Order: sequence, then C-alpha cells, then structure tokens
Amino acid sequence: MTDSDLDAVMAIENVIYTHPWTRGNFVDSLAAQNHCRVLEWHGVIVGYCVLANGADEAHLLNLSVAAAWQRRGLGRELLDHVLELARTLRAQKIFLEVRASNNAARALYAQSRFREIGVRRGYYPAPVAREDAIVLECVLGYPE
Ligand SMILES: CC(C)(COP(=O)(O)OP(=O)(O)OC[C@H]1O[C@@H](n2cnc3c(N)ncnc32)[C@H](O)[C@@H]1OP(=O)(O)O)[C@@H](O)C(=O)NCCC(=O)NCCS
Repeated sequence: MTDSDLDAVMAIENVIYTHPWTRGNFVDSLAAQNHCRVLEWHGVIVGYCVLANGADEAHLLNLSVAAAWQRRGLGRELLDHVLELARTLRAQKIFLEVRASNNAARALYAQSRFREIGVRRGYYPAPVAREDAIVLECVLGYPE
C-alpha cells in the first residue's frame, strides 16, 4: 500500500465498516512503517491489511475485503499472507481485536487457529452503546 492507493482503500473502508479508519489512520500506519499491503485483481484493489510488528509480537490492525468481493476466499488469502509475513518477521505470536458481533471475521480467524484470550469491554464505538472487543492470539509455529 502506498499513499496513491488511499483513495481506493478509503472507498472500501467507508463502505464495510460502521466506524471506518480515517485516511489519517492509514497515513500514520504508512509513516510508522507498519506492513500495509493491498490485494489487487487486474490492478483493482479488492482488499488490504495492516500488520504492526514489534519485538517478537505482531498486531493485525486491519484486514478488509471490498463488499463486492467478499465470500470468495480473499479474506482467507489475505490472512494467510499475514501469517506468512509475520513468520518472515520472526514474530512468535499475532494479536488482534475483533468486534464481538463480527461473526464473519471471528469465523475466519477461528479457522486459522486464532484463539480467544480476553475481552476489552466497550472498546469499540457502536451505533447505540459501545461494543466489546474480543482479543485473539495466534501462536506461530516454527520448524525445529
Ligand atoms: C471478515 C472478512 C475479511 C472476510 O473476508 P471474505 O473474503 O469474505 O472471507 P472468505 O471468503 O475468505 O471466507 C473465509 C471464512 O470466513 C468466514 N466468513 C466469511 N464471511 C462470512 C459470513 N458472512 N458469515 C459467516 N462466516 C463468514 C467463513 O468461516 C469462511 O470460511 P468458509 O468459506 O469455509 O465458510 C470480510 O467479511 C470483511 O472485510 N469484512 C468487513 C471488515 C472486517 O470486519 N474485517 C475484520 C476486522 S477484525
């Protein structure tokens, strides 16, 4: 992902989230040299992810597939890419937060061996009250 991708990224982000990241959030992530990737199909951005890495832990900050492209295996493809990237970075674990109500993402992460390790109460803004975040962890295995 580069600055020139942000119009396309924001067009997706603003549709698929009730409380999307701002353009500034992506600009900050790029400036912080987080691992920001886009997934393209014939030059069209159809998904993206943002992974922060520090010490031996990685934090998945964003994983998104454009609405029209969902349920075609791209979320899994992006997540597989994230897992491979984290291994390359020698991270031992990946953490992430997911909205308690986000059944699609929770199912995806569960299939990739993420497990629930905690709850952050009222972590997310929501249309009515605030919503809990489920904290997930994936321990990355390395060959001996
Ligand atoms: C979550 C998200 C990335 C999944 O991407 P996707 O390309 O639609 O997912 P895939 O087609 O690769 O599906 C992989 C698995 O995810 C789960 N899944 C995806 N969409 C689902 C849905 N609508 N309902 C239930 N499970 C779903 C399933 O377990 C699926 O496996 P299956 O096909 O064997 O049933 C996508 O829905 C998205 O971008 N949502 C909005 C943004 C978001 O919530 N991001 C995650 C923030 S933590």
